Amino acid sequence: MLLPLIRAEKLSKTFTVGKRSLTALKPTSFSIYPGQTLGIVGESGCGKSTLGRTLLRLYEPSAGKIFFHGQDLTKLSLSQMKPMRRHLQMIFQDPFSSLNPRMTVRDIIGEPLVIHEPGQNHQKRIQELLDLVNLPQNAAGRFPHEFSGGQRQRIGIARALALSPEFIVCDEPISALDVSIQAQIANLLLKLQKELNLTYLFIAHDLSMVKVLASRIAVMYHGEFVETGPAEELFSNPRHPYTKMLIASIPLHNPAEEKKRTQVFLKGEPPSPFDPPKGCAFSSRCPMAKAICFQQKPELRENAPGHHSACFLNAPSTIAEKPAASYKS
Ligand SMILES: Nc1ncnc2c1ncn2[C@@H]1O[C@H](COP(=O)(O)OP(=O)(O)OP(=O)(O)O)[C@@H](O)[C@H]1O
Ligand SMILES: [Mg+2]
Repeated sequence: MLLPLIRAEKLSKTFTVGKRSLTALKPTSFSIYPGQTLGIVGESGCGKSTLGRTLLRLYEPSAGKIFFHGQDLTKLSLSQMKPMRRHLQMIFQDPFSSLNPRMTVRDIIGEPLVIHEPGQNHQKRIQELLDLVNLPQNAAGRFPHEFSGGQRQRIGIARALALSPEFIVCDEPISALDVSIQAQIANLLLKLQKELNLTYLFIAHDLSMVKVLASRIAVMYHGEFVETGPAEELFSNPRHPYTKMLIASIPLHNPAEEKKRTQVFLKGEPPSPFDPPKGCAFSSRCPMAKAICFQQKPELRENAPGHHSACFLNAPSTIAEKPAASYKS
């Protein structure tokens, strides 16, 4: 039987800001199997990065467990955690601010090797890593500012790969890049996944990006999953009104088709994380909301095998075609 590489069990994170507290990640459970990608989508501030960072214990979880190869990482001390770090890496959104401008590419890529394998010569491994991400060998002696955005992201990827990790949290790694470059980096991540049998948690704002990369998708809203399912199924048969609106707002590539389409824009703002509503967090923006949605919180329920959504209404799929006028602002 195939076991999950990584599993979160009721994992949560609450931050204290001044005298107030904010639960950026409500108790969340999921598994990711070896060689697979779980895509996480949702608007800014819904808790995607908090989820990724808490899963790697870059943020200390407030509650819950993280199992890696069946071992509970939350039970490890920080010194016991250090050797685990080589298996669990992260790629960041902004390849410029995440690379030290005063370090050469050789030193940036080699830094994790120096920390985890001190006293060894890493030149050969650095050359291999440059090859893996399709950067020229002469890149080693140069500085980040001498590269384009896409090339800088390749440097960030090479650094994340240095210690041959098994699991990588990709936190919006292509969002900041030119559209023309996004596909190149997405293809590189797919190629590396196949060659190195990597497992990814892939975070994006935009569902169209995760569609090509993810085996399963989790849609996040206000600190929790509102729908999860196999990528194809989630697109062909979305259940939650929020997912439907996210899908309906993906721009079409054909301008003529785009013009003809009845566009559904997601209006309004999510509720403040300091002041969570009593019922469904999406109720204030949901065109389908009924009285119960404002009073009770829907739980994630399985609608079809492996496909869960948290909605009382199990909204019909025609919602995406309704005219924008029927949506509340
Ligand atoms: N270190 C922190 N201290 C306090 N609050 C935080 C911290 N990090 C995140 N938050 C808050 O937690 C919530 C979720 O933030 P998070 O960065 O996880 O969202 P996100 O989905 O990654 O957003 P984006 O798409 O903009 O990157 C936000 O309300 C944010 O202000
Ligand atoms: Mg983020």
